[in-house]
Amino acid sequence: MLIAPSILSADMANLKAEVDMLNASAAEWIHFDIMDGVFVPNLSFGFPVLEAVRRCTGKPLDVHLMMVQPERYVERFKAAGAAVLTVQYEACTHLHRVLEHIKKLGMKAGVALNPHTPAGALEEVAQLADVALVMSVNPGFGGQAFIESSYGKISRVRELLLKKNSPAAVEVDGGVTLANAPQIKAAGADALVAGSLIFTAPRPQEVIDKLAAL
Ligand code: DX5
Ligand code: ZN
Repeated sequence: MLIAPSILSADMANLKAEVDMLNASAAEWIHFDIMDGVFVPNLSFGFPVLEAVRRCTGKPLDVHLMMVQPERYVERFKAAGAAVLTVQYEACTHLHRVLEHIKKLGMKAGVALNPHTPAGALEEVAQLADVALVMSVNPGFGGQAFIESSYGKISRVRELLLKKNSPAAVEVDGGVTLANAPQIKAAGADALVAGSLIFTAPRPQEVIDKLAAL
């Protein structure tokens, strides 16, 4: 299982130490939740934080844009070091064009689906997407409870990608715990985002090891 710890839950006053911990861990990607206060009722961080972490790690930066009009910032995120750039399906009028733009710049392109958005929303972009991100909480905050209906949604996304011959990875974001992770994997996930679970643990690397070993 590919693990992408979410920096949102890291200790921002000790970011270098947190990234060093991730560097020495089994985490494969580092997940960034970019919030604009419009698409979601919260603000997080932007380019300076991304660039600072970029200088401290060789791990791919997995950037999740919870913002309106993400097409305005694709080039800036590339320059800031994003390796994976995921946009919210609900925020894109021209999703196909945005995904093509992301890929043309050499990044992996992801599509995130809010909990209310059906798996079938991916039908016409499945072949373009490198990542299908299933939001298993309503975006905007770390530390929320996993929405139980997400298991079925993950399976439906997995089936759709198979049907469409899409190589996209299924990434699950929100409310991941050591208790629900096996069922999330069984439903069809390839990658897990985890924030509070990892960064509030006394020994975060052990939690990452356990998730990665699934
Ligand atoms: C929610 C974010 C998540 C969040 C996950 O808006 O997209 O990535 O950081 O946090 P946990 O693992 O605490 O639910
Ligand atoms: Zn996220």
